[in-house]
Amino acid sequence: MGKRKIYKIGVIPGDGVGPEIMSAGLEVLKAAATRFDFELDLIKYDFGGNRYLKTGETIPDSAIEEFKKLDSIYLGAIGHPDVKPGILEKGILLKIRFDLDQYINLRPVKLYPGVWTPLKDKGPEHIDYVVVRENTEGAYCGIGGFFKKGTQDEVATQLDISTRKGVERCVRYAFELARRRNKNKTVTCVDKANVLTFSGDLWRRTCIDVNRDYPDIKLDYAFVDATCMWMIKNPEWFDVIVTNNLFGDIITDLAAITQGGLGVAAGGNINPEGVSMFEPIHGSAPKYTGKNVICPIATIAAGGMMLDTLGETAAAECIEKAICKSLSEKHIKSLEAGKMGMGTSEVGKLIARFVSEI
Ligand code: IPM
Ligand code: MN
Repeated sequence: MGKRKIYKIGVIPGDGVGPEIMSAGLEVLKAAATRFDFELDLIKYDFGGNRYLKTGETIPDSAIEEFKKLDSIYLGAIGHPDVKPGILEKGILLKIRFDLDQYINLRPVKLYPGVWTPLKDKGPEHIDYVVVRENTEGAYCGIGGFFKKGTQDEVATQLDISTRKGVERCVRYAFELARRRNKNKTVTCVDKANVLTFSGDLWRRTCIDVNRDYPDIKLDYAFVDATCMWMIKNPEWFDVIVTNNLFGDIITDLAAITQGGLGVAAGGNINPEGVSMFEPIHGSAPKYTGKNVICPIATIAAGGMMLDTLGETAAAECIEKAICKSLSEKHIKSLEAGKMGMGTSEVGKLIARFVSEI
């Protein structure tokens, strides 16, 4: 008998509905740990808007150093109505992504059976692909500035960088994933190479180079504007999409509504060689705070992705099945806030029970 695995997980419930969805997510993770015989050592951190308003601190560098010793991070939601936009996003979320070099933002787009989609005549068999979003550079690099700020001659710049190293590691991850998924065996490089000719060229050349190591995978290209159209018209065309940070951010909100809304859309900020962080794609939804009405499935699914990345694949599959069961059998009526037919915590308990029983 091998020694029982213990995973050190940093838990950041965050702001707004963050703490509620996080307790539902943890309930499910604990059920998975019991069933699949591993242990969770949860270390809670209070980073977020309230702490910032009290102390002026977002995340200190010392916390980042602590994070480096964890196995993974589980995040609820960041965003506070009393804090100016950008401070918490840059000071917490983006800081963790950048400082821990979580260079992949993995966003599965999957319509669960029984879930409403705004796409006419499309079902779970049509909506099942993954967006691999570059997560550490592009327009998010934070390089830019003002010239003659506040005058009529004002100039603002915001640099969008692509490095060969950053693009290549991301593209390689996408090809590897396409092979593992074994679906259409296709990687679609989404860009704007007809206008952003320099970065587009770098992305496409890198894709061609990496494709040589994956002759079993087809490489496709699509412009980001047209991609938005096809995601609605023919989502079944996609298998693995690889794209830059900003395009990935934009298209995954569109993707989320095709899978039934932000209530189910989960994401992983992954450093395959280091510490990753998992979170629902949605924000802190301040107006629903403490009301027990928000759908925690995105957070629960993010927990499943975390276990998958930690190597607990059976537990991850079990969580996936439990989510599916809760939706396909209509235990949960809708993903919309207040319309689930039960509360946030009840959804957590239900899915945790399914994880123990399935
Ligand atoms: C996301 C969010 C973030 C992003 C914000 C909150 C900084 O929209 O995770 O998609 O732009 O990456
Ligand atoms: Mn976003």
